[in-house]
Parts: sequence; C-alpha cells; structure tokens
Amino acid sequence: MTSFLLAHLSDPHLGPMPQPRLRELASKRAIGYFNWRRKRHAVHRRDVLGELVADLQAQRPDHIAITGDLVNIALPLEFTAARQWLESVGTPHDVSLVPGNHDAYVGGIRDHFPTAWADYLHGDGAAQTGETIFPYLRRRGPLALIGVSTAVPTAPFMATGRLGHVQRASLGRLLPKLASENLFRVLLIHHPPVTSPGRWAARLRDSDELLELLSRYGVELVLHGHDHRHATVWLDGPRGRIPAIGVPSASAFAMGHTHPAAYNLFSVAKENGTWRCEQRVRGFTKDMMLGDIKQEKLI
Ligand SMILES: [Fe+2]
Ligand SMILES: [Fe+2]
Repeated sequence: MTSFLLAHLSDPHLGPMPQPRLRELASKRAIGYFNWRRKRHAVHRRDVLGELVADLQAQRPDHIAITGDLVNIALPLEFTAARQWLESVGTPHDVSLVPGNHDAYVGGIRDHFPTAWADYLHGDGAAQTGETIFPYLRRRGPLALIGVSTAVPTAPFMATGRLGHVQRASLGRLLPKLASENLFRVLLIHHPPVTSPGRWAARLRDSDELLELLSRYGVELVLHGHDHRHATVWLDGPRGRIPAIGVPSASAFAMGHTHPAAYNLFSVAKENGTWRCEQRVRGFTKDMMLGDIKQEKLI
C-alpha cells in the first residue's frame, strides 16, 4: 500500500522585523522588540529557513503542517510578510497551520492571524463561511488533521497557552467520531501537551484536561512546536501510547544550546488493519550541514 507523507515544521519567527511605530511598542512588544534586536535576530535566520523549506519541498510531501510562531511581536506588517512566506511554502489546500503564542503576542490584535492567514486555518467546508473556528478538521488521504489554537495574549515574560473549554468540548465530540471513521488522527497544537522542565512560564495551562481527553478518545499522533527542540514524548491513549513530537524552529542557526533548524517527515500507511508511522528527521547539524538526522518507526 502506498503511504501518505506528512511534513512538519514550526516556529519560523520570520525576520526581518519591520520598524515598529513608537505607539506599537507600548506594551509587552517593547520587551519582544528589544529581545529581537539583542539576540533573536541572530538565531532566526531567513537564509536558514529558505534552505530548509527548499529541502522539505524537494521531498514532495503530500501535505505540510506548520505549528505556529510565524511572527515575533505581532506587528501588522509581520502578518503580511508571513502571508507571503506561507504562499511560498504551499497552497492553503496543501498546508495546514495553527497559531502560536507569538502570533497573539499582545491583546487587541487577535483578529490579525485569522484574517491574514484565514485559508490556511480553515477546516474543510469552512471556506464558504469565512469563519476561523478551532478545532478545525481537514481530511487529506488517510489523515484527519485536527488543528487547535493555544494562542492567547499573556503578560510580559509569560508564553503560556490555553485551549479553553469550548475547544476541549469540541475535541471531546470530534475525536471519537473520527476514530469510528478509521482515520489516522493528527492533532496540530503549538504548545507541547506535557510541559518540559523549566518551562512553567511557557506551559499549556490546561494540559491536564487535554491529556485526559487524549487518554479517553486518543489520536494517532500529536505534532507541536514552541520549545524549539527535538522532542518525543509518549502519552497515554485508550489503545496504547500516542507519540507527541516536537520540532526545532525552522529558522534556527546553531548557537549555544539552540537546536538548529529541522523538520520531520511522517510516512503513514495502513498494513493488515494496523497503522504504521515512520518518522524521518532532516535538518542542520551544529556545523550547519543539511541532511538526514535520524529515522525511526513510531508505530
Ligand atoms: Fe517559538
Ligand atoms: Fe511559542
């Protein structure tokens, strides 16, 4: 049986930063802007991202998932530039996106990403209504791609996320329905479902409730970003363990303890009534050579 190839990248944190107006820097943005000028602009490089995306496209994936943090301090011009970048990655039909905390960096701008990136965030059939509703559902080949938003504005020095009870209730209805349709369910979420050590101020605030939902109804795979690191964590599911896979920032230049830019490829097929999923990691080494990093059978 032929397999379906899903590519996953995250956290491009697109530069260069547009020049903000002074009034745009009133708020948490001032800290973010200072951080970008001081350090982050040297980590998140457009040339690194360009090379990584070209390599990803050369693998000819059937679909591409992007798990947020396209922008940095959520200036209006950043959303416009991110839209152009998205179009260079693929069409809205072939690319599924969920937002990250940097895409909702400050209050009062939350309608920027649903507007600028709308068709990359729409579920099947939602294009006519123009509404962005999470969780969304997209069926591609044997996959059910379920996208959620954990992007909420937070106080300075916080990068937490939250699903909220409305999205969790929808997941509680959607996941068992999709299980009965025999689809390979992939949950796209910016924040990792299990908080990494030292990341309390950047955690998913309702992670316990999400883990409970997953243990009851299951998905086959969880893909996330946010921590800018390679990560594989196994979650409890109703019929065995669920792999939750994190990927580094797609634009990260190797510096200090930063994981250099990488992306994942998941090859999914059904064999003798059982799902098979193999992960292949491609990305940069510490000396910025691009190639295969590892390959392993997940399920
Ligand atoms: Fe990020
Ligand atoms: Fe993030």
